[in-house]
Amino acid sequence: MKTDLYERIWIWGVGVILALFFGTLANASIRHGFHPPSHVETIDPRTVFQSAAFRRQGVSVDPAGRVHVTVVGLMFTWMPGELVVPAETPITFHLTSVDVVHGFEIVRTNGQSMLVPGYVSQFTTSFAPGEYLIACNEYCGIGHHTMSGKLRAVPKAEWKAPDVAAQPAEGGDHAAH
Ligand code: CUA
Repeated sequence: MKTDLYERIWIWGVGVILALFFGTLANASIRHGFHPPSHVETIDPRTVFQSAAFRRQGVSVDPAGRVHVTVVGLMFTWMPGELVVPAETPITFHLTSVDVVHGFEIVRTNGQSMLVPGYVSQFTTSFAPGEYLIACNEYCGIGHHTMSGKLRAVPKAEWKAPDVAAQPAEGGDHAAH
């Protein structure tokens, strides 16, 4: 089969572009560990509040000093409704829903993820000092518009770690203190 010169140029061009795209994806996911915020791990939505990861909600610090936030979404509230975190610090969010799909959005930041019952969503981001609205951006029922919360990012020096034992956010249970 004879292929026209220009057609061959396009075929190779497209091949190179595709290789670049896949290379970028592979680099981001393998070398940098990027992944979509949802569907990271599964959880039984009926036993969320008994699970090691979600038994306690809110802000915690793990033994390595990293800050974690655990939030459960349910019709029509976030648990907990208010979060206080240190500013300019990477915060890892662990989120799940016990009923329907909710959209966790920390307004005017890049912190957002869909919450799907049965899955744990996870993302890490940091905040400039300030107060942020947490909205639900996924229609979840009659009280959808009332589903809001607040995140306050306070200067690191003013932030006090919550007085609770580090939470086994990465799974696995361990005794307090
Ligand atoms: Cu939850 Cu809309």
